[in-house]
Amino acid sequence: MTGAPLRLAALLALLAASPAAASSQWGGSYPYPVPLGLQPPPVPDADPVTGAKVALGKTLFFDKRLSRDSTIACATCHDPQKGWTDQSPVSTGIGGQKGTRSAPTVLNAAYMTRQFWDGRAASLEEQSLAPIENPVEMGFTHAGVVRRLSGIAGYAPLFKDAFGDDRVTIERVAMAIASFERTVLSGNSPYDRWKAGDKGAMSPAAIRGYALFEDPKRANCAACHSGPDFSDSKFHNLGVGAGGTDEGRAAVTHDPADAYAFKTPTLRDLADTAPYMHDGSKKTLAEVVDFYDDGGIKNPHRDPKIKPIGLSDAEQADLVAFLGALNGDPVRISAPPMPQ
Ligand code: HEC
Ligand code: HEC
Repeated sequence: MTGAPLRLAALLALLAASPAAASSQWGGSYPYPVPLGLQPPPVPDADPVTGAKVALGKTLFFDKRLSRDSTIACATCHDPQKGWTDQSPVSTGIGGQKGTRSAPTVLNAAYMTRQFWDGRAASLEEQSLAPIENPVEMGFTHAGVVRRLSGIAGYAPLFKDAFGDDRVTIERVAMAIASFERTVLSGNSPYDRWKAGDKGAMSPAAIRGYALFEDPKRANCAACHSGPDFSDSKFHNLGVGAGGTDEGRAAVTHDPADAYAFKTPTLRDLADTAPYMHDGSKKTLAEVVDFYDDGGIKNPHRDPKIKPIGLSDAEQADLVAFLGALNGDPVRISAPPMPQ
């Protein structure tokens, strides 16, 4: 790690400049074992994953003192006991304030090429700094976090181990949290074991569901839910929330064609992360599958891949069984002791 201070703008530019160039090849600097079915996540050269940085990031992730009134941590809304979500249609931040979107899981967020439902953050580092200053989430300032953490003696050795000296900077906070998140991985699901050759790992219903999921002429789910994390990291309009105030990707790109398009979420560990969709409007996976079978909700920019499918009740149940086979080994990380 370089000892020179890396300023926030410079860091973010470095991370976002060219994802291909900035990211090491798979596994370039990832010192952890990854669960079956996954590749090591991409790691930016500017922020290599190290054990000391992960330990610091984990502590920060659970520390409520990152919020103005010290009541809300990242883990409040991304609770490891709740599939790294808050299991609510929208999140609640400081002072009981409600947000407008459902908290996505942090599991495998490391594989997303854009962060947030609308993709407005280009890296985990950039993402991690937004909730701190979001008035309805942690309601604090970056300067306030740096000042507060600098005054907690117990943080000094953690920063020193991670970065070579004990100086607290907001860039270091971001880099440590992102490094920790790169270790929050879900794999080794029945599907992964089946794919690796254990033919008994998935039920016959789940195997039938997988065939429907992949079949371009039937459910065609894999057109968007692709790759080991079951997301193309792209934005699509299914009609969820169409006509409402949250325009999704269009608010970032200002392109009307992106109206009500949201990022394809991962499909791993759905058992723990209901309710579903960016607005938490679907309570069960059966409801989600039924919604797709109806062709989503018709609106001017509905993705052409979303159209009525014509699944029987049995086929819908098979698809739900397949989604259930994507629940991995539980990543039950608990809160580390808080530095004093
Ligand atoms: C008050 C609840 C709340 C808090 C606190 C919170 N988040 Fe989130 N998080 C959310 C919501 C809601 C979203 C989706 C927001 C959006 O898309 O606009 C989100 C999105 C994310 C994402 C993007 C995942 C994806 O697939 O796009 C990551 C990663 C994340 N949060 C990590 C963190 C970290 C790290 C912290 C602490 C610094 C944190 N969150 C604090 C609620 C919260
Ligand atoms: C055109 C791309 C596309 C196709 C095809 C597609 N999805 Fe999705 N999927 C998305 C997007 C985008 C979202 C988030 C939409 C939102 O919240 O507005 C989503 C959300 C979901 C969710 C909710 C996950 C969560 O954490 O909230 C599930 C479950 C799901 N899809 C399963 C499926 C299944 C099963 C199929 C096939 C029947 C399918 N998807 C086909 C793009 C797609």
